Amino acid sequence: LLDNNIKRNNKLIAVGGGIIQDITGFVSSILLRGVEWIFYPTTLLAQSDSCIGSKTSINVDDFKNQLGTFYPPQRIILDVNFLKTLTLTDMKSGLGEIIKVHLLDGEKSLEYINSHYEQAFSDPAVVKDLIFRSLMIKKNIIEKDEFDKDYRNIMNYGHTFGHAIESVSNYEVCHGQAVTMGMDIANYISLKMGMLLDEPHEIMREVLLKNYPDYSLRREQLTSFLTALTKDKKNVDENLSAILTEGWMQY
Ligand SMILES: NC(=O)c1ccc[n+]([C@@H]2O[C@H](COP(=O)([O-])OP(=O)(O)OC[C@H]3O[C@@H](n4cnc5c(N)ncnc54)[C@H](O)[C@@H]3O)[C@@H](O)[C@H]2O)c1
Repeated sequence: LLDNNIKRNNKLIAVGGGIIQDITGFVSSILLRGVEWIFYPTTLLAQSDSCIGSKTSINVDDFKNQLGTFYPPQRIILDVNFLKTLTLTDMKSGLGEIIKVHLLDGEKSLEYINSHYEQAFSDPAVVKDLIFRSLMIKKNIIEKDEFDKDYRNIMNYGHTFGHAIESVSNYEVCHGQAVTMGMDIANYISLKMGMLLDEPHEIMREVLLKNYPDYSLRREQLTSFLTALTKDKKNVDENLSAILTEGWMQY
């Protein structure tokens, strides 16, 4: 871009999923101390989740999101027609984040995603509805804590373990399905710590299992899984930070 003489009044236009978004947003934020950018999200994950919230992140070596800024696009243009060409895995990746915000939003939203999950693969009206619902839930959360100092951390539900799964699987497991496994792990730990009762654990598990990847962690991956957990940027000092749950809307 510099070789091509980019000026501060030029705009970058990103057409793609979360990775294109992260790269374009990050580059826009540091280029000439900030140029404007416009985003056309083309994956379910980017349309229902990542397109709002301002975060830009870049991986370093094998570890996720080590560099980043807050830098929203000036405009976001959503068109569900883009989703027609997505693979089943990429649909499930988006559904992982959609399930996450519906779980965060409480029992009614959980029932809603549980009863509409299958239709999301075939009915554009249902997908549109789920995208809108997810963006509204996310908007309400980030408006309370735009720069991720406190409350917004609940959006990281499933992500501590999810990022480690992405990393040890060498990104064979897509982001949203890794987050799905991550939420299940967080719920299991919550159950074992006596924070979460059996019934909500089972109800949440029912919807999470629908969106599981076809991938199992092997025993010999344990050390690299634990190393990846230590790289999570939510960690403070020696401690591992993760979002756990006490049940409906208690994260
Ligand atoms: N910045 C944020 O706030 C934020 C939030 C959540 C996730 N993320 C990041 O987003 C990334 C995941 O995003 P993603 O799921 O969009 O993945 P992605 O950007 O890797 O896209 C997934 C795949 O779909 C292809 N693709 C994109 N649009 C398509 C279309 N319309 N039809 C067919 N194929 C298409 C891409 O080429 C790619 O192969 C992760 O790296 C995650 O960390 C960022």
